[in-house]
Amino acid sequence: MQYKVIIPAAGSGSRMGAGYNKLFLKIISSPIIELTLKVFGEDHRCNEIILPIKESEKEFFETLNLPSFIQNKITYVKGGAERQESVYNGLVSIKDTESFILVHDGARPFVTNAVIERILEKMNEHEAVICAVPMKDTIKKVIDQEVVETIDRSTLWGVQTPQAFTYKCLIEAHQKAIENGYLGTDDASLVEWNGSKVFVVNGDYNNIKVTTKEDLFFAETIYEQYRG
Ligand code: C5P
Repeated sequence: MQYKVIIPAAGSGSRMGAGYNKLFLKIISSPIIELTLKVFGEDHRCNEIILPIKESEKEFFETLNLPSFIQNKITYVKGGAERQESVYNGLVSIKDTESFILVHDGARPFVTNAVIERILEKMNEHEAVICAVPMKDTIKKVIDQEVVETIDRSTLWGVQTPQAFTYKCLIEAHQKAIENGYLGTDDASLVEWNGSKVFVVNGDYNNIKVTTKEDLFFAETIYEQYRG
């Protein structure tokens, strides 16, 4: 089963506070985005990687240490002001709308083939499948430093990427979101909001999104465990 993956990579990483795109930060010796691109580049089921980036950063991406068969899979598109816009720019660039579309954050370099496999298998039955892990912490709703609610943890999952969709399901949700000014924090939320059902498979606790400085420490540990 063939798929295309959109990997939004046009963020500024303000929560990381590096002063530049966090995807360029190295984990041991490889930039985060290089690790992410290798996973999909080496997967024979992935026939295209669509990479929304800032035009000013293109040279960096083009000089990543990736074999030519991976660089040749990459289609660069213009990133947007928001992640959602970056993904949409990637979507409209796609000509073959038969392949499944995966969306994966550039900042999640530890996605495994096993997670991708579980998602693709479930896509045989559904038009939208995401991966997630059960929450470990107790989650409370807090307003003005006061707890207003403790939410039943047994139904809470922390959502990751990749998220997979049929092209039709995802583009329709994005277009409707644009028309209505709806902004979601992931692609599945647009699809849910548009009335489609979204199904969940097990993600992986190591599939972290490198977001803040502390995550770099965890990322190095995970890297050494899996690829060192
Ligand atoms: O900031 P955060 O880690 O949540 O962003 C998730 C992904 O979306 C990152 O890989 C980032 O580069 C990307 N992004 C983007 N365009 C934006 C903002 C974020 O492609 N305008």
